[in-house]
Amino acid sequence: MTALSTHYPQHVASVLQHHQDALKTTEYDHAMIFSGGVRYQFQDDRTMPFAANPMFKWWAPLNRHPYSWIQCPADGKPRLFYYQPRDYWHLVPTDPQGYWTEHFDIVVMRSPDEVLKHWPDGRVAVIGELDMIGFDTGGDSDCAELIHRLHWARAGKTDYEIAALKEASMQGARAHTAAREAFERGCSEFDINRAYLAAIDATDFDVPYNNIVALNEHGAVLHYDAPQRDKPSQFRSFLIDAGAEVAGYASDITRTYSANPDLFSDMISAMDEAQLELCNMVTPGRDYVEIHLATHEKVAELLAQFDVIRCSAEQALGSGLTSTFFPHGVGHFLGLQVHDIGGHQATETGGGKPPPSDHPYLRLTRTLTTNAVVTIEPGLYFIDMLLDEHKGTELERDINWDRVAELKPFGGVRIEDNVVASAKGPRNLTREAFAELGA
Ligand code: GLY
Ligand code: MN
Ligand code: MN
Repeated sequence: MTALSTHYPQHVASVLQHHQDALKTTEYDHAMIFSGGVRYQFQDDRTMPFAANPMFKWWAPLNRHPYSWIQCPADGKPRLFYYQPRDYWHLVPTDPQGYWTEHFDIVVMRSPDEVLKHWPDGRVAVIGELDMIGFDTGGDSDCAELIHRLHWARAGKTDYEIAALKEASMQGARAHTAAREAFERGCSEFDINRAYLAAIDATDFDVPYNNIVALNEHGAVLHYDAPQRDKPSQFRSFLIDAGAEVAGYASDITRTYSANPDLFSDMISAMDEAQLELCNMVTPGRDYVEIHLATHEKVAELLAQFDVIRCSAEQALGSGLTSTFFPHGVGHFLGLQVHDIGGHQATETGGGKPPPSDHPYLRLTRTLTTNAVVTIEPGLYFIDMLLDEHKGTELERDINWDRVAELKPFGGVRIEDNVVASAKGPRNLTREAFAELGA
């Protein structure tokens, strides 16, 4: 954590600069950024897990602080309206404390609407979940260009953000190691998930997305999130996609294991080699779509190498058959959100850069700039729904159904790392983390 406090002054200066440049260009006097409100279950007093507005937590590691605001003026020091209610039912936030406090003028509020007493004059842009504010601020929430400019800027991470992402990979690697050991002990999915969370003192609500803890065929369910309490009768394979959160920043890591040395473990090794080559493409100036298309080439080669197809790799690529086995994008921006914003933005003022029509699930189509952080997560799965679509079509004969039947009980393989497009070349935070743990 020392690294975070060391890097924070430069980070907050950079966030301030991005806001003030964008405010001046779009002719606002202030931005008011709302942290978010608490939602309740329908007709109940039970709350939903709180998730802070990423535009708020960009400023400071305040991810458990609803009803607070950052006020950023076009010139001058930012203010933090810090909500600390008088409440004996719940644990209230502590007094503001930590390495970030001196960078704000802080106003403590006892009720959410106290912000109105301090509302700035002039043209004010409001950024946040409007329906959760609970009162009319009179500010301008229709500030799309300002928001586009800020989303665009979020792609380039500061040293502070990279340090947080590295620590999130460290925690993820620690928890992944505990999960692998639980798999090797023969635990159920449910108990593997518990071992993962216990290793980093987390609950299911502290991790940045629902952990995917999948044994055997469940590895073919891309967002599998129903960990079973019962153990399977046989342990063949284990796919785990799970991260950790540090100072509001996420890691997003996938590993796949085979219980025995077999055809599937060979496939995992081959995928690992391909994945590392793809990670090496993460450099400033790289069109991310290129990495996605290169992944399809690698998947085609794997399909041929493991006799999953009866046609050539080139033919599988040309016919689109690779998408049957690799039906998602190779990755996305990573940061304050697991799928960080702005992946399809055409320019800093907005506009869309949609994915190629035959790759609709690719979340990132931009050219990488220095210190963009992305995931690289190639996969190869045996998904009945997609395979069945080829039955009775011309592509049916291009599939080696016997091999598919042999590999289907293993579900699928995905390997996912978090990589910085640094000026010195690709920096793989996840491999660094596993190596530092000796795992
Ligand atoms: N864990 C979600 C993803 O890999 O995008
Ligand atoms: Mn993932
Ligand atoms: Mn991911």
